[in-house]
Amino acid sequence: MKIGIHDLEVATSHYVLDLDTLAEHHGIDPNKFRIGLGQDTFSMPAPDEDIVTMAAEASQALLERHDAGAIRQVLFATESSVDQSKAAGVYLHELLGLPANVRSVELKQACYSGTAALQMAVNAIARYPEEQILVITSDVARYALDSGGEPTQGAGCVAMLVSANPNLVEIEPDSGLHTTDVNDFWRPNDSTTPYVDGQLSLDAYLDATTSAWDDLAARRGLAITDVDRFLHHQPFTKMARKQLAALAEHTGTELSDELIEESMSYNRALGNTYTASLYFALTAQLHNNTELAGKRLGFFSYGSGAVAEFFTGVVQENYRDHIYPQNVEKQLTNRVALTYDQYRELHHNFAATSQTFSTPQTTHAPFRLSGVTEHQRRYEAQ
Ligand code: CAA
Repeated sequence: MKIGIHDLEVATSHYVLDLDTLAEHHGIDPNKFRIGLGQDTFSMPAPDEDIVTMAAEASQALLERHDAGAIRQVLFATESSVDQSKAAGVYLHELLGLPANVRSVELKQACYSGTAALQMAVNAIARYPEEQILVITSDVARYALDSGGEPTQGAGCVAMLVSANPNLVEIEPDSGLHTTDVNDFWRPNDSTTPYVDGQLSLDAYLDATTSAWDDLAARRGLAITDVDRFLHHQPFTKMARKQLAALAEHTGTELSDELIEESMSYNRALGNTYTASLYFALTAQLHNNTELAGKRLGFFSYGSGAVAEFFTGVVQENYRDHIYPQNVEKQLTNRVALTYDQYRELHHNFAATSQTFSTPQTTHAPFRLSGVTEHQRRYEAQ
């Protein structure tokens, strides 16, 4: 039985910042961001948006095409959690009006946990093939103002429906795994922005992904030439190029950038979307490449701290009949451009408090965070 990603939809935030604006105000050559990091713009949420509102928007669009009654689990992966106890999946479950007989949990391991959620979903479907599972990857990447990570901020969500007989990608059995305790990027409970050792994070990413590759190659006898296209977690898109070059050197194989070129268009425009980044790479590859039927995709998942996984999937024959690139285009072009001063003010005023506040009505998305009362987050449909 084939099991995998049956369908997916995406959402991003209300605002966008052009990295040329950041470069200009910081006295930096714009090419450092556009060429050096491979980024053009990044998404930024309005005060009435967060990981839950983006997840609800993407999921609602997805479920318009499916029977929500078949969903038995909501697995919500995120780095930018909104509560220390209650799973974001529970808020989402309510906003979507899902039946009560559903398991809803949240998963965490920096940018990696979306892959854990996907694999858990695939394994559960193997046991209960008639069920469907909603896998959410939703994040807001916030770095401190004037920090090295500032140009690699972003926001976005990919919602995926996992089922038997998938329309898009069959996830193949077995994975290459890697865990090592490294302090390259972490965010303590009292901090709204991460601590980052930039250079260490680059090295940790390359070491962990190479190790995950080696693990799967050894377990499954997989050759590098068995993979037709590579997909990466893209904290900035240049990172995918760096990883491919490192993999080429490690395996002694020539690997052309054509193997990843079509996976980068959305992440260039969104910025880092942490758990969602790898799945935006998948979305872009499916949308930009018309020749993928029957081809094997290799997924490099990485989450600082650090956990990596390499796994593969096979694109299904009629995938072009089940993709909606116009929806992504709409999400990207509908964003409202920020001036530098507006961006700084928005960043500065980010409310991480559970004290009572109400948010100005800004987003045009179908769901919004109206504020906090009695220490409880209040969401509403609009
Ligand atoms: N024209 C073209 N390129 C230029 C340029 C110019 N004028 N000026 C600089 N560059 C190039 C540099 O040569 C460099 O390219 P290479 O790495 O290929 O040599 C690139 O631009 C970046 O320059 P720097 O290394 O000087 O940039 P920096 O010191 O400002 O920091 C960074 C870069 C470390 C990635 C920083 O943005 C950062 O800390 N980001 C957050 C951490 C991160 O994203 N780490 C990635 C791995 S960890 C992970 O994946 C998990 C996660 O999501 C966080």
